[in-house]
Amino acid sequence: MSATINLEKKHFPVLLDELIKIISPRYSGTFLDCTFGQGGYSKKILENTKNKVIAFDRDKDVVKFSEILKKKYKDRFEFNHKKFSQIKSISAKDIKAIIFDLGYSTTQIFDENKGLSFNFKGKLNMRMGLNSFSAHDVINKLDKKELSNIFKYLGDEKDSKKIAQAIIKKRDQKIITTNDLVEIINKAKKNYNFKINKSTKIFQSLRIFVNQEISELIYGLINAYKLIPIGSYIVVITFNSLEDKIVKFFFKNYSEEKKVSRYLPYSKNTNQIFELLNKKVIFPSVEEIKKNPPSRSAKLRYVKKVGDQANFEEFFTKFKTFLDIENIGKKLC
Ligand SMILES: C[S@@+](CC[C@H](N)C(=O)[O-])C[C@H]1O[C@@H](n2cnc3c(N)ncnc32)[C@H](O)[C@@H]1O
Repeated sequence: MSATINLEKKHFPVLLDELIKIISPRYSGTFLDCTFGQGGYSKKILENTKNKVIAFDRDKDVVKFSEILKKKYKDRFEFNHKKFSQIKSISAKDIKAIIFDLGYSTTQIFDENKGLSFNFKGKLNMRMGLNSFSAHDVINKLDKKELSNIFKYLGDEKDSKKIAQAIIKKRDQKIITTNDLVEIINKAKKNYNFKINKSTKIFQSLRIFVNQEISELIYGLINAYKLIPIGSYIVVITFNSLEDKIVKFFFKNYSEEKKVSRYLPYSKNTNQIFELLNKKVIFPSVEEIKKNPPSRSAKLRYVKKVGDQANFEEFFTKFKTFLDIENIGKKLC
């Protein structure tokens, strides 16, 4: 474990100026902040007195931050302790934009009860909130094949089988803390890349699996599309390549006019429900990364809704393998 790490525990909202630049022309209406955290985005949006914010977060530890905003902004602010896959439960109309800032806040990463990081000793937990099982259940109850698939598909881990085997072997001695798991990984895994900690991919795959992040994101995006009127925006900030792949496919595949065959003339894509307002990804500036190093992996993408006729079969087919892997979790519920 690294005892030398000394990052600030305060969470800085990522790409805040860029987000506000995108949504401010649509001010005077309701905005959905699907990942409230410490309310960095919500606060900024509420500075405009004509705006209302409906916020969501699955972590009960952020309720205290939402109460501060509720006191100050009263009817202009509402907080839901719910997962964002459930945003359809609200009855708001005239939604101008729905915003997702995926991943974890710095405060969550430093919380030893959550045990999200391999850098600090913590409980083998990884639940952000409103979960059905913990990382401890995953590591101690699933079989070798299931563990190996989780590591391979959700973490892109080359040594998935070896690490799964090492976990099974150690189980009788109890694997309880993040340190116990790090020790097993360090012994089982070869060092291919000295810049990346050996535990990075295993911890990523476990966080995704425990929090069912792939299905949360897929259903969150589809429900966001269903909830907004034509002309409104969906904005997403991602922090890992799997999340970004999902968002990129969702936005691009349902934006572009597609040729059915190269031998046939263009036909209108009947699934065109979005307009890509910015074809390129938006990254944090060098200054932001200097001030807040965790922002370096952030990517912002956004679209405007332009159509109402959507069939999401292709979206589900494309990410079926990942959804099937997350389904293994049903055994633990
Ligand atoms: C990166 S932080 C957001 C920070 C926030 N933008 C701010 O300025 O403080 C991500 C937040 O999203 C929440 N979250 C992640 N996945 C979620 C989900 N599926 N449903 C609801 N909240 C989720 C986490 O609990 C965390 O508080």
